[in-house]
Formats: sequence, C-alpha cells, structure tokens
Amino acid sequence: MERALIILKPDAVQRGLVGPIVSRLEQRGLKFQGLKMMRVTEELARRHYAEHEGKGFFAGLVSYITSAPVVVAVVAGKTGTVEMVRAMVGATNPAKAAPGTIRGDFGVEIGRNLIHASDSPESGERETAIFFQPEELIVEWARIADPWIYE
Ligand code: RTP
Ligand code: MG
Repeated sequence: MERALIILKPDAVQRGLVGPIVSRLEQRGLKFQGLKMMRVTEELARRHYAEHEGKGFFAGLVSYITSAPVVVAVVAGKTGTVEMVRAMVGATNPAKAAPGTIRGDFGVEIGRNLIHASDSPESGERETAIFFQPEELIVEWARIADPWIYE
C-alpha cells in the first residue's frame, strides 16, 4: 500500500474547486484515508516545504499556502499510486501542464497551482505525519467497489 498527501491549496478552496478535484481522485478509484479542512500555520508550511527553504520562491510559497484555508487529504492505493496521482496533478507550472491534468485544466500560473501531491512514497509518509494524527486516519476500511477497481 502506498499513500500520498494531497493539499487543495487556498486558491482551490477560494475558487470552489474542492469538489471537482476530489471527484477526479475519487472517480479514478483512489481510496481516501482522511480528509479535512484546516489552516496551515507558518510552522507547518516551513516543515512541509523544508526542501525548498532558501530558494527564491520560498517566502511567497509559505505566504500562499498560509493565506487562507486548505483541504488536506490522504489517498492510498497499490504500488505506483503516488506516481499516478502526480500524473493526474500535472506539471508544477500550470501553464505547461498537459490538458486533462488538474493543473492543466484549472490553472495558469505556478504560484497558484491549486494542489500539492507527495512526490514519492517516502514523502507521502513524511507529509501524512505532518498533517494528520494517526487517529484521524481510517487506514483499513472495506470499500464495496474495491473488487471492481482492483483485480
Ligand atoms: P507541490 O510540492 O506543491 O506539490 O508542487 P511540485 O512538487 O509540483 O513542485 P515543487 O518543486 O515541490 O515546488 C513546490 C511549490 O513551490 C511553488 N514554486 N514556485 N516560482 C517558482 O519558480 C516556483 N517553483 C515552485 C509552486 O507552488 C510549487 O507547487
Ligand atoms: Mg513538491
């Protein structure tokens, strides 16, 4: 089992795109382990985006992600799920993201790219632990559609 942390960034919430974006993930067959609305504090933002500290866009990135509420979620699936989710999200810069991807369909600029998704299974675990307490996640649950999604 692999999982990815998803953040629907402030622009997704402000633009009423939570439903459409969650729908895409849900319709693909990904299984949600947790979903909540929250505000990202500066401390949380710095921890989550620690790899980008010192880069020119870091201050703007922290200010963007902390500027208004976000929706965070954990989605899980078999090996390859993280890569699949990243493919659905599209290139970091929406201007260059392929049509059919979330960023390619809903965004135009890198600083307003709507969604975060973990970039590796290891990041998925690290980021999940930053945003969710273990008791907030339902890790094992029987979904009636599972045998119709996975062979
Ligand atoms: P994310 O972490 O948010 O899912 O995005 P990503 O993996 O596609 O891109 P990453 O390189 O991790 O960058 C994190 C976020 O920083 C902002 N950014 N701005 N102005 C710039 O050159 C620039 N580069 C990155 C974006 O909001 C990006 O999502
Ligand atoms: Mg990233």
